Order: sequence, then structure tokens, then C-alpha cells
Amino acid sequence: MKILVTGGAGYIGSHTVLTLLEQGHEVEVVDNFDNSSPESIRRVEQLTGRSVVLHEMDLREEERLTALFAEGGYDAVIHFAGLKAVGESVEKPTLYYGTNLESTLSLLRAMTASATRTIVFSSSATVYGDQAPVPNVETYEPLVATNPYGQTKVMIERILTDLAASDDAWRVGLLRYYNPVGAHPSGQIGEDPQGIPNNLTPFISQVAVGLREHLTVYGDDYDTPDGTGHRDYIHVMDLAEGHVAALDHLAATPGIGARAWNLGTGTSSSVLEVVAAFERASGVEIKRVVGPRRGGDLTYSYSDPSRAESELGWRATRTLDEMMADLWRWQSQNPRGYRG
Ligand code: UD1
Repeated sequence: MKILVTGGAGYIGSHTVLTLLEQGHEVEVVDNFDNSSPESIRRVEQLTGRSVVLHEMDLREEERLTALFAEGGYDAVIHFAGLKAVGESVEKPTLYYGTNLESTLSLLRAMTASATRTIVFSSSATVYGDQAPVPNVETYEPLVATNPYGQTKVMIERILTDLAASDDAWRVGLLRYYNPVGAHPSGQIGEDPQGIPNNLTPFISQVAVGLREHLTVYGDDYDTPDGTGHRDYIHVMDLAEGHVAALDHLAATPGIGARAWNLGTGTSSSVLEVVAAFERASGVEIKRVVGPRRGGDLTYSYSDPSRAESELGWRATRTLDEMMADLWRWQSQNPRGYRG
């Protein structure tokens, strides 16, 4: 298939582009490099020996995007592009709703003007909010996220679901990611956050290379065995493979409409278990202090991944130790990420 990947230079995007190329698909990327670097795509090309057409473009440039679709002949789109920092979204809600919704609507209008009717969307477990029981199942409603970033995911799922209901030519996959971590086993591509990382594992790996003084553990008084929060960490390569499985399923299933799949492992690990796994993988001790809880954090978040297994034939196979070994390979070989 010929696939257009929006936000393809980012963390999950670049690993997915690599996986698509390895499985023989043709890939083009649209990215404005707002929070990513073209270097990731250059490295994907080196790793795969395949080339990727890169369009530096903001999705809101609707005329350019429409022209791209008119010529592109894409079989499907994978839509990663968007802003994703929870804290910033609380500070700047109009930036988040504006960017994520306007770019998605522009993309969907450009698709509508073309013949492309298949799209896989980068959603998040954040759509389950703080009321859904764990493990999360896809049938749970109502979807209400606890912050503007998460609400953009809820709203875009809704828009895509309504679009699919309007015309049965549309085939829509809504992929609800848990916590993607790790890197390609080559250590050549990985997560490259700008500024101070918001997420746990890039923070840990930056402490390990001396870029940060210590990790702050956000609360050790949760109702869990060691008192720290539990998440469903999933290797980014498993996640990337989940996208290809979803695309294959959509391609084989006319009339499917919109369908959601959780992409997680089905198990959870605590903050301290992740730190211990990283220390084992790297041999580096991570300095840490216990701080207060972070607002909005859940005690437990993990998936029921059985729908993805039965319908997509996909399941996550890589262990937490592999996730941390691959993270360490990336961080130790690229202490300052793609900026060298
Ligand atoms: C966060 C977002 C989620 C988003 C996801 C991907 C929140 C509340 N949720 O998920 O909406 O989809 O990132 O970007 O922000 N932790 C520490 N110290 C740190 C960082 C994290 O102890 O410096 C802990 C957290 O309290 C949590 C776990 O590590 O228990 C994972 O945190 P994080 O990596 O930020 O992911 P989520 O909060 O699950």
C-alpha cells in the first residue's frame, strides 16, 4: 500500500514508518517539525535502505494538502500529527483545541476531496478518563478525558466516528495507546523530547546520562503494592506493529466503519519497577526523590488488549527489560537526541 503518515518524523511516527517500510509498503511523510526532526527519517532510510518522500507542511495549509492528496493516490493515512503535552494543554487550551482539531479537520476535508477513505488515528488511553474501571475495554462510555489534550483525542474520535457513519466508504481505526516506551533495537531512532521531559522514561534516561540531577517520583502513597502509580508500558516497536496490523485489517474489511482498539500489554508496572528495570538494563543507578502526587494522575491505568488480539491478530510481545535495554541503547548513543 501507499501510506501517508502525518507526524511521521515524531517518536511513534518514525518507528511506524520504519515498520511499514520493512513490510514492503510505500511511505510518504507530512510533518511541520514542530516537535520533531527530519533526522529521524534520514535514519529510518539508512536502517531500511528505502527512501521516504518528506513533505514539510503544516496540515492546516489546506490548499497544499488538498493538492498533495489529489496527486498522491494514497491507499491510507496514519494520523499522528498533533500537540501532546498534558500540562501545556491546561495552560493553553485554545492552542491545543485549535491545533489538534483544525489540523485534523483540514486533513479530513483534503481526504474527502480525494479518493482516500482509510485512516488510522493516534488516540490514547487518556480517553477513558478517571472513572473507567481497569482493565479498560473499548466499549466503555462515556469517554471524558481530564484535560484539554485528552479531550482533543475524544473529540477527534467522535468526528471520525460521525464521518464513518456518514458514508460507508470510510474505514477508520482508532488506536488507544497506553504508555509507549523504548526505542528501535539499533539505538538509531528513539524519543527526543524538547526541553524537560514530561514523561517518566525519557526523564529516567536523561538522569542516567547526567542531563538531569534526579528523578522526582510523583507520590509513593498510592494504593498499590509499592505505593507508586501503575501504567501499561508498551514497547514502541510493538505499538508500531499494531498500526500495520490495524491497516491490514481495515484494508481487508470493507464496511467496517469506525472501530477502536486498545494497544497495550494488559499488565501494569509501577514507577519503582520501571526504575529498577532501567537500572538493570543500564547498570546506572538513578538518583530519585519522592515528591507530591502530580495532579490528574491515576493510580492504575492498563488495557484489556483482547479485542486487538482477536480482531487484528496483534499482541505486544516485548518485555519491560527489553523496553529499558532499547531505551538505554538510544539514550547512551544519542545523549542529546537528534541534535547530536
Ligand atoms: C501521560 C499523560 C497522558 C498522555 C501520555 C503520553 C498525564 C496525567 N497523562 O500519561 O494523557 O497520553 O502521558 O504522553 O499527564 N512519573 C513520575 N515522575 C516523572 C514523570 C512521571 O513519577 O517525572 C510517574 C507518573 O506519576 C505516572 C508514571 O510515572 O505514574 C507515568 O507517567 P507519564 O510517563 O507522564 O505517563 P502518564 O501519566 O501515564
